[in-house]
Amino acid sequence: MDRLIIKGGARLKGSVTISGSKNASLPICIAAVLAPGASTIANVPHLRDITTTSTLLQSLGATVERAGSSLRIDAASINTVEATYDLVKTMRASVLVLGPLLARFGRARVSLPGGCAIGARPIDQHLKGLKALGAEIRLEHGYVEALCKKWLKGARINFDLSTVGGTEHLMMAAALAKGETILENAAREPEIVDLAAYLNLMGAHVEGAGTDTIRIQGVEQLTPADYEVMPDRIEAGTFMIAAAITGGDVMIHNMKLEHLDALCFKLQDAGVEITSKDGVVRVQGPRRPRAVNIKTRPYPGFPTDMQAQFMALMCVADGASVISENIFENRFMHVSELQRFGADITIEGKSATVKGLRKLSGAPVMATDLRASASLVLAGLVAENITEISRIYHLDRGYELLESKLSGLGACIERVQGP
Ligand code: EPZ
Repeated sequence: MDRLIIKGGARLKGSVTISGSKNASLPICIAAVLAPGASTIANVPHLRDITTTSTLLQSLGATVERAGSSLRIDAASINTVEATYDLVKTMRASVLVLGPLLARFGRARVSLPGGCAIGARPIDQHLKGLKALGAEIRLEHGYVEALCKKWLKGARINFDLSTVGGTEHLMMAAALAKGETILENAAREPEIVDLAAYLNLMGAHVEGAGTDTIRIQGVEQLTPADYEVMPDRIEAGTFMIAAAITGGDVMIHNMKLEHLDALCFKLQDAGVEITSKDGVVRVQGPRRPRAVNIKTRPYPGFPTDMQAQFMALMCVADGASVISENIFENRFMHVSELQRFGADITIEGKSATVKGLRKLSGAPVMATDLRASASLVLAGLVAENITEISRIYHLDRGYELLESKLSGLGACIERVQGP
């Protein structure tokens, strides 16, 4: 099994280019199912989750071809409407295929995803929405079986909480429903805006994405469209923290700073300098960051997907910070691994108190989920001596070429294979 070996202490310097967004690519590739024909989706990163998405689409009968960073998805040949447990358990976002299949073919059978390392992550809001659109839903043998008359029917849906996947799922299904759908208390993440733009290029009528009320006028048919996915804001944020934690000076290309306002404010409070010129963002780390408190919230609040990485930064900050996780109930699994670097962290309920130390010391650690793994890499970049991270297949789900991008900035990091 691959491991990462990091020798800490290098100040990162130079330029890095951010890849296409994983969390925007997934629903956009799945939305291609809505139109009988071939869409080319550009700026799709090479990641395990994308390979799983391709396998999922192929298992339905679609043709998927990769050329560089583009995926050509031909959904004309879809001939089955079932997504099996094998696929859905490796990637929860596979469940998003339920609504598009149902909207286009009138029926679908998709495995329930089951538990997840960071929280229970139910899909009750997705199912409540599909029922409101007229679907008949049965849960049997671990599968969701959904049926509708010829068309789904537009409806007013009020989410009980802000759900990114739920909003995306209902937006896709409603695009082919008869009449108007209004999604209230919708999530506002940039990935939702990106998906809406792709749907509209396919001929959908989606308005208000990026606000908490989205109106969708259903159409009878969508047509394939070519689209370029937005840059990955979480990868960009992770590189901003890599620059900050090493006291580095990094120029970040192909990122949208406006997607990371909440993170930027907190980094600036911690003493990090952030400037932007001609679309390139420069991040200069302080000699030592100041301690800052954060609370994760739905967008535009501080992203839960940056919580672990920010915690790594706070481990070496001057002072104590309180980090509250409000989105997922079990997203502190990196804490016990960060403690192996000597970090002083205590957890009480939804909050972790981090007392910053001048030094961390390299250690063998284990990745537990995607963003937790990123926090271990960041800690390894500043820790004394050698850090060895195992189970890095989690990182390969969400960070394209992480070690070569970090090496390009001067980090001492390499991937080794074998026991
Ligand atoms: C998306 O997950 C992202 N995944 C996650 O990124 C991200 O952490 C999360 O949004 C929050 O920003 C993708 O986009 C593929 P939610 P999603 O529905 O859509 C609860 C990463 O590291 N909930 O917004 O599954 C849920 O349990 C990943 O890249 C319900 O209770 O998240 C959670 O507590 C991990 N019922 C909260 O809402 C539902 O029906 C937010 O979940 C749906 C969600």
